[in-house]
Amino acid sequence: MPIGFDQETKEFHLYNGSLSYIIKILYTGSVGQVYCGAPLAPHRSYPFLSLTASGGVLHPDKSMARFEYPAFGTGDYRTPAFVPQFADGSTLTEPVYHSHRIYAGKPAIPGLPSLYTECTDEADTLELKLFDELFGLFIILYYTIFADLPAIARHSRFVNEGKEPLVLRKAMSLNLDLPDNNWRVISVSGAWAREFQIIESPLVAGFHGVKSAKGNSGHQQNPFLILKRPAADDSSGQALGFSLLYSGNFTASVEGDCYSSSRVQLGVNDETFSWKLEKGAFFDTPEAVLVYSENGLNHLSQVFHSLYQRRLARGIWRDAERPVLLNNWEGTYFNFTEQKLLAMASVAKELGIELFVLDDGWFGQRDNDTSSLGDWYADTRKLPSGIAGLAEKIITLGLQFGLWIEPEMISKNSRLFEQHPDWAIGVPGRPRNEQRNQYVLDMSRQEIVDYIAKIISDVIASAPISYIKWDMNRSITEAFSLALAPDRQSEFFHRYILGVYDLYERLTTAFPHILFESCAGGGGRFDPGILAFAPQGWISDNTDAVERLRIQSGASLVYPQSSWGSHVSAVPNHQTGRTTAISFRAMVAFFGDLGFELDPTTLSPEEKKQIATYIEFYKRHRKTFQYGRFFRLAAPDPALYTAWQASSEEESLVGFYKLQAQPNRAPVRLRLASLEPDALYTISLWEQGGFEANDRTYNCGLRGGDELMYAGLSLDTTYVTKQGDFFGEIFIIKKREEQEP
Ligand code: GLA
Repeated sequence: MPIGFDQETKEFHLYNGSLSYIIKILYTGSVGQVYCGAPLAPHRSYPFLSLTASGGVLHPDKSMARFEYPAFGTGDYRTPAFVPQFADGSTLTEPVYHSHRIYAGKPAIPGLPSLYTECTDEADTLELKLFDELFGLFIILYYTIFADLPAIARHSRFVNEGKEPLVLRKAMSLNLDLPDNNWRVISVSGAWAREFQIIESPLVAGFHGVKSAKGNSGHQQNPFLILKRPAADDSSGQALGFSLLYSGNFTASVEGDCYSSSRVQLGVNDETFSWKLEKGAFFDTPEAVLVYSENGLNHLSQVFHSLYQRRLARGIWRDAERPVLLNNWEGTYFNFTEQKLLAMASVAKELGIELFVLDDGWFGQRDNDTSSLGDWYADTRKLPSGIAGLAEKIITLGLQFGLWIEPEMISKNSRLFEQHPDWAIGVPGRPRNEQRNQYVLDMSRQEIVDYIAKIISDVIASAPISYIKWDMNRSITEAFSLALAPDRQSEFFHRYILGVYDLYERLTTAFPHILFESCAGGGGRFDPGILAFAPQGWISDNTDAVERLRIQSGASLVYPQSSWGSHVSAVPNHQTGRTTAISFRAMVAFFGDLGFELDPTTLSPEEKKQIATYIEFYKRHRKTFQYGRFFRLAAPDPALYTAWQASSEEESLVGFYKLQAQPNRAPVRLRLASLEPDALYTISLWEQGGFEANDRTYNCGLRGGDELMYAGLSLDTTYVTKQGDFFGEIFIIKKREEQEP
């Protein structure tokens, strides 16, 4: 009984054994939120849960009621989920239940990314239709519950069946009114090269939230929030996660109100949005995903990981092991020749690298970041045989070939700008901001998307390319489109991102064999909207292994390791100046899609030997590193250590990373996750390319799953301490076939 409707009580119950979501048509016709959380018996009704303190289903003070999709202006003074403005200028509306449909499967959203099912058994959908009779506005609320996961996908469609156009001033994807405020709020926030820092705060009265107004989801905030009970941690306790499948201006907020209840909202940022809805037209919001966990944040993250890995990412790369790559960016920056690239690629081949990626600087006359974006033809000064010639040579060396592009951008100093200065976003008569010496193309215009689709397709089709890195190195300023009427200018940001999705859709459909990796100066547009097209992303320009521990831990709250581009770079690190051992850099980058971003021709023979063994080790365990179930383990002292685990059917891999050496500490125990308590496991250590310390192997051997989970892996930190700062181990844990009698 995934979605039931009780005619008598007017309750809808979305149920799948791990989650109940109950809503009710109130006597006024509005739709009320009754319950969202751990599963309740599906065939009962829950009248007491919809009562307010005063005993009524709807308190005279509507701010005390819990609504599914609240309107503004009739007594609920909290933030509304939507605001239409009708032809008479009024914004007052109180749509009521009109009808509903329940069916197996899940619909797609035209022009927007969404989760999908492969067969209709995987999910059921409720479409709840509300109606404002006076102006003929229909609102359809979509709820899809997945059969095997405590997750619900939601979005809303507005249909104008009135006689006049109307304007949507706000249209949230999800609203959730919760009966209490005993939560802590977690978001991932940051900046360029410091993405995905975990921020936690108590939920008190007032607003908590994150948003973007930059045209991309941004380095600063991510379209994602968690509410967790104060005592909940990675391995236990209740939590709700909310994620928006959108790459443009978003908002994700929680309002703690005066009655100690809370209202969560996710959607397009209404500060930079409105949408004119002509008579007969409809508007779809992006999709939001709600996940519930009764068992802590690791479980919550794993549900997001399964959804985003298996039912958001598409195409052959969804399940395929990702190649180990060499990207030339930090190795050469703009300063390379074909000869240099081939020399790098030939060492890469020796090391076991599978894909060579040529980053920025191959087109126009781009020797630095001041020119050529938009001129997507090879610079024959650097590449005499063009992209096709270089790609052929790389393939002859036994590697695949990948290429960097930044299709949404235009340099003032470019042929494209000479021909089409009006294609760059800007407000006529006003100065335009140049960021990183570049402007942004107006992707809300069809002819520009068409042009870029054609020119990039020509580049890709001209050479044997297996991989594309799609960058976006600046955000939008002076938002305005020459193609939009004055009363539609505030549609610009949403139309921009629809144009980007359209371009992605065309290129990924035309070149289904290509692995797309997204990037926006690192993690400036690392969100589920983009993951629908590019199953992996360059998560941060910061390649420092110590910083990466924090960044990848933060990203793991919602995004699976198969989506993290994770590179080993040279030391001293180019972003932090820090020096760490190559083995430490590698063992951090193993969790994710391993790459190298350095000049391999400068490596010593010893380093080459080591790296070759690392890559060989990674390939043997790659399926677990990329697709295994991921756990943030409770490190004994989080200020000093980080610990991760990835588990597949074959094995569990545990990374234990020390940040800072401190003498004279007692052994610590690291409790592992998700083993069978009655089974026996063999533990071995990754050799780290011949690294030896006398007492390193003390922890290897046979252990019970119960011991490893309940007591923990006992780590003698004495030898670990003596290795200095930034030292780690990878433990390989395999179930012994032959178990104890
Ligand atoms: C961005 C990316 C880098 C690199 C440069 C090239 O900063 O994040 O990885 O591709 O652009 O200009």
